Amino acid sequence: MSKEVIVVRGNNTLAGEVQASGAKNSALKLMAAALLGQGASVIRNVPDISDIAVMSEVLQRLGAVVDRDGHAMSVDTSNVDKFDTPYELVSKMRASISVLGPLIGRFGKAMVAMPGGCQIGARKIDMHLVGLESLGVEFEVDHGTLIASTPHGLHGANVTLEFPSVGATENMLMAAVVAEGDTVIENAAREPEIADLCEMLNSMGARIEGHGSSSIRVEGVPLGDMHPCEHTTVGDRVESGTFLVGGAVTGGPVTVRGITPDFLRMAIVKLQAMGCDVECGDDWITVSRSGPLKPADIQTLPHPGFPTDLQAQFMLLASLADGMSIITENVFENRFMFAAELMRLGADIALEDHHAFIRGVKGLEGAPVSSTDLRAGATLVLAGIVADGHTVVHDIHHIDRGYENYCEKLQALGADVERRAE
Ligand code: EPZ
Repeated sequence: MSKEVIVVRGNNTLAGEVQASGAKNSALKLMAAALLGQGASVIRNVPDISDIAVMSEVLQRLGAVVDRDGHAMSVDTSNVDKFDTPYELVSKMRASISVLGPLIGRFGKAMVAMPGGCQIGARKIDMHLVGLESLGVEFEVDHGTLIASTPHGLHGANVTLEFPSVGATENMLMAAVVAEGDTVIENAAREPEIADLCEMLNSMGARIEGHGSSSIRVEGVPLGDMHPCEHTTVGDRVESGTFLVGGAVTGGPVTVRGITPDFLRMAIVKLQAMGCDVECGDDWITVSRSGPLKPADIQTLPHPGFPTDLQAQFMLLASLADGMSIITENVFENRFMFAAELMRLGADIALEDHHAFIRGVKGLEGAPVSSTDLRAGATLVLAGIVADGHTVVHDIHHIDRGYENYCEKLQALGADVERRAE
């Protein structure tokens, strides 16, 4: 298929309502967790995005049967009899590493290609390995493939993570639930997607407490006690935050439904600090702005700190604020490539190590730009909507990884955006 681009006509505003899809960064792990229950689990509110298609491929290759009916997915792992995930799949999507923990839980062994890095960083997995080793897993690497074994079985442990890694917390949880004995994970990740995974694992028969806090306790149960379940994925806080920034940068009002406002607490604080009005209900958030955008200082941190996945979106806001903003990226070592693309549209940004100094400008001018990662790509489309003239966003396969019907949702908010062959 020829490469596609998104053509955006600017000087536009976004206003109206949009429904959040299910969280990509939860659904991918919920699918992997289904490996622990021999039978068909049903996962609802699964977004229709390319990363989910890749994870379906990974599970099917292991012997699972994956069926979709709209946003509901059935993952039948009754006949899963393989425990290896090859490089060609892991290299397509590094989140495939999320099958490591459940495969070890189910088979006591696994062979998973080491994930490579990506545009935003090396994406190491040392904390995954150290954490799993604490549970009795032994690793060796053979030509880029991680070979895991549990010669003495999986056992509980008290583990403190060096950094609250989302992936490491998830992989440890999906092994610890069927370990012999109890596990405590200190300095665990607190992202809402972790709690969503724990809720599903508990529905399958696991005994987890403390999820959402930095100290998670697991009482191991026999693998035979784990069973399939039905679970609904939480709303995608990053997709939601992206649309809310669309409302903030153009004036809005934009309402996102199907999202828990508490998932975006720090992003809401910063929207308000930058001059936006934010209203919240049980499962919706509305953003509007009548006055000028104000500058802000933002530090990306693990949840509940400001989310790194909204860093690019808020850099766009800062580029049009009245004054100098500082954004510090503390989570990934190379997540400022987006700045260079934004500067092509006229932003005034200076980068110094982990800091971006953004001097607000009066307006942006449309130009051809390239997506460097899925969040940057989604934000470049928003930049084109508010810029003068028209913008062509290239490499939009990045956007398709994590945004379902992105153009259609933006069109419903009034955007003049069109997807077409390059
Ligand atoms: C998850 O990645 C998300 N991806 C990322 O979203 C998100 O940015 C990140 O969490 C932080 O919230 C998925 O859930 C699929 P980490 P993950 O382990 O699990 C370093 C998006 O746009 N680290 O918390 O890989 C790592 O290199 C994506 O949807 C180690 O050094 O994040 C990174 O610098 C982008 N060793 C930092 O920690 C390890 O063993 C955070 O990584 C593990 C991580």
